[in-house]
Amino acid sequence: MEQVGTFWTVGWITIVCAAICAIASTFGHNNTNSSEPYQKQLQSILKLVEELPPPNSPIEIPPKIIDKKYDFIIVGAGSAGAVVANRLSEIGSWKILLLEAGYPENNLAQYPVLAPVLQLTDYNWDFTAEPQNNACLAVETRRCAWPRGRGLGGSSAINYMVYTRGNPEDYNQWAAQGNPGWSYEDILPYFLKSENAHIPISEPNYHRTGGYQSIEQTSTSALANAFIQAGQELGYQITDYNSPQQIGFSPIQITTSFGRRASTATSFLQPILNRENLHIVTGARVTRVLIDSNTNRTYGVEYIRNDKKSSVNASKEVILSAGALQSPHLLMLSGVGRKEQLEKHGIKTFSDLPVGETLYDHVAFYSLLFNSNVSETSLSDLFTEDEIQKWYKTGQGPLSSISGNEALAFIKRSNSSNLNDTSPDFELILTTGTLMSDNGTIGRRILKITEEYYREMYETLQGKSSFTIIPILLHPKSVGYMKLKSADPYDDPLFYANYFTDPDNHDIGVLIEAIRFALRLIETEAFKKYDVKLISKPMLGCEHLKHNSDDYWKCALQFLAISSYHPIATCKMGPVGDPTAVVNNELKVYGIDNLRVIDASVIPLHVAAHTNGPAILIGEVGSDMIKKERGVL
Ligand SMILES: Cc1cc2nc3c(=O)[nH]c(=O)nc-3n(C[C@H](O)[C@H](O)[C@H](O)COP(=O)(O)OP(=O)(O)OC[C@H]3O[C@@H](n4cnc5c(N)ncnc54)[C@H](O)[C@@H]3O)c2cc1C
Ligand SMILES: *[C@@H]1O[C@H](CO)[C@@H](O)[C@H](O)[C@H]1NC(C)=O
Ligand SMILES: *[C@@H]1O[C@H](CO)[C@@H](O)[C@H](O)[C@H]1NC(C)=O
Ligand SMILES: *[C@@H]1O[C@H](CO)[C@@H](O)[C@H](O)[C@H]1NC(C)=O
Ligand SMILES: *[C@@H]1O[C@H](CO)[C@@H](O)[C@H](O)[C@H]1NC(C)=O
Ligand SMILES: *[C@@H]1O[C@H](CO)[C@@H](O)[C@H](O)[C@H]1NC(C)=O
Ligand SMILES: *[C@@H]1O[C@H](CO)[C@@H](O)[C@H](O)[C@H]1NC(C)=O
Repeated sequence: MEQVGTFWTVGWITIVCAAICAIASTFGHNNTNSSEPYQKQLQSILKLVEELPPPNSPIEIPPKIIDKKYDFIIVGAGSAGAVVANRLSEIGSWKILLLEAGYPENNLAQYPVLAPVLQLTDYNWDFTAEPQNNACLAVETRRCAWPRGRGLGGSSAINYMVYTRGNPEDYNQWAAQGNPGWSYEDILPYFLKSENAHIPISEPNYHRTGGYQSIEQTSTSALANAFIQAGQELGYQITDYNSPQQIGFSPIQITTSFGRRASTATSFLQPILNRENLHIVTGARVTRVLIDSNTNRTYGVEYIRNDKKSSVNASKEVILSAGALQSPHLLMLSGVGRKEQLEKHGIKTFSDLPVGETLYDHVAFYSLLFNSNVSETSLSDLFTEDEIQKWYKTGQGPLSSISGNEALAFIKRSNSSNLNDTSPDFELILTTGTLMSDNGTIGRRILKITEEYYREMYETLQGKSSFTIIPILLHPKSVGYMKLKSADPYDDPLFYANYFTDPDNHDIGVLIEAIRFALRLIETEAFKKYDVKLISKPMLGCEHLKHNSDDYWKCALQFLAISSYHPIATCKMGPVGDPTAVVNNELKVYGIDNLRVIDASVIPLHVAAHTNGPAILIGEVGSDMIKKERGVL
């Protein structure tokens, strides 16, 4: 791990800023106005990337006739859906249809360093939250970006690849809320089942090799090593945070294989494309679950493909794996949701349930900025023929960086209300680059920061080596929700984030504490070696407040604390009688037969984790529940 000296520093988006326009136009978006130098670099990078054969062979779906009837229909081939498709099709006598609105991943998705760029392509559904008065204030019309992956692999095909499971206590809480089968002891074998781990920092009983999902570890350059050493100076350990000892500092475990992105499509679908009983159909957008009004039983789905509406039947079950924003949407469109709301849109109610009424997200702050004397490598230095060849042959080097995110810490606040609770309160991510690293071409755009705000706040900070520590609130008390906008399946629902709306200001308080913790880190010997300084320019809009006071940080957070893309709980799991529950502990929708939700929307309570690992877990656990119930396990 000690490799100070021979490091490279990759701005989280520095290297890719150039790639945006051509990539974006390749996928039909054309909303870019990058500066000249970036345009030029972009052209040459893309040329280099395109000339190479794909690093892993891309998924090619053999053309298949869609039959009229299957045993199971899975909607959405994302983190959970791909796992379910794999596990159910292990049973040779079951015929399975996997319907995905998007398309197979392209070559660019495989470069970890290009991750942010994917958000600017059609591989992102590009949702936004409704405007708020006390958060996302620097964002266009105050609507926080809520990206979601569209295509095989779903959000695992556009995410930052951080692999985290969460704390044992988190899962024990799920179980304690009346969800048998979900305690840490119950679910740990399923984390192991998926996994093919090759990570140096590893607690032996918590990892294994041989599963479908490859896990590797980030390389750490100078600043990330300093971050980890700073943690040690403050008395923290270097930990395998995916073991019960979650509190501490570490390089990041990531869903890559040989330095290439390992989405659930490449991990769980690609190896089984030869299974005759699994039909994978892309470009198929499901618009409704079909429910028999005499029996309240699900019998199929309706979908649109090539502008043509069709329906297909499922004799056993329909499984919604369309993700935390779209599984609830599909339920509501199909007559499962709050009756008053559905009636307003002329939808007949089959089961009156609180669909979309709970929505937790992890809010993160993107403007805790530092300068250092570690130089940032520019794009043109990185995407050279040599670097690409090196990455291609060895899987290593800056192109395998998950866009500059190199190390993290899980921390419990000093003043925890429950000392027995082992789950951390906040996370810090060390990222070797900032919003300024690409002169506003990509980072600004994916966070949807207004051009004026960027210009006035960040432009004068460009051209100097900078990095950030991103604090993330893990256990929010604020609760959001979503509701239908209309009965048109192509109309996005309305999403209300409600960040920082908890009455006792717990959420903003934890983030201020996280910022103060990061500032202590910066004072350590480890960081002093690099002449690290907090960028003291006050946040635009907060200049009137005393710098570094709690009120100042509170103000700064309201401008640029935004989503870290972990919505959950919209189809919450809970026991009979729980007024917030949509599915039971076996993920079956209450009041409707033959219908389950298997994805991040069922997570009942926030976890101290980025949600890809938990979504994969839910796919594994849900699949086994189906197999057990049908006597094949
Ligand atoms: C930009 C970004 C970065 C992230 N970074 C990380 C990270 O580093 N680490 C981490 O752990 N988590 C990260 N996350 C979160 C994590 O990736 C998601 O929580 C997880 O992938 C969700 O899995 P899922 O199965 O619930 O849904 P998804 O993976 O989103 O899958 C849903 C699938 O359903 C499809 N679909 C939706 N509606 C329909 C329809 N009507 N018809 C047919 N198909 C449909 C979608 O196209 C998609 O493929 C990130 C997310 C984003 C967006
Ligand atoms: C699908 O199921 C419905 C309801 O049972 C039935 O009316 C319809 O004929 C079925 N379609 C096919 C192709 O089996
Ligand atoms: C179907 O659900 C509706 C609404 O919840 C209910 O009124 C009806 O009795 C149910 N029908 C059956 C057959 O269970
Ligand atoms: C400690 O927590 C309590 C509430 O749990 C709060 O009232 C108090 O202000 C906190 N103290 C500090 C120093 O954060
Ligand atoms: C902490 O855990 C111990 C042992 O499990 C238990 O006896 C005690 O009541 C717990 N305390 C709190 C505050 O939860
Ligand atoms: C980014 O901006 C800085 C100063 O504003 C400038 O020195 C640098 O050349 C710019 N980089 C590119 C690639 O345009
Ligand atoms: C960075 O700053 C430190 C502390 O001032 C100094 O010792 C070191 O030599 C500097 N390194 C470079 C590369 O300038």
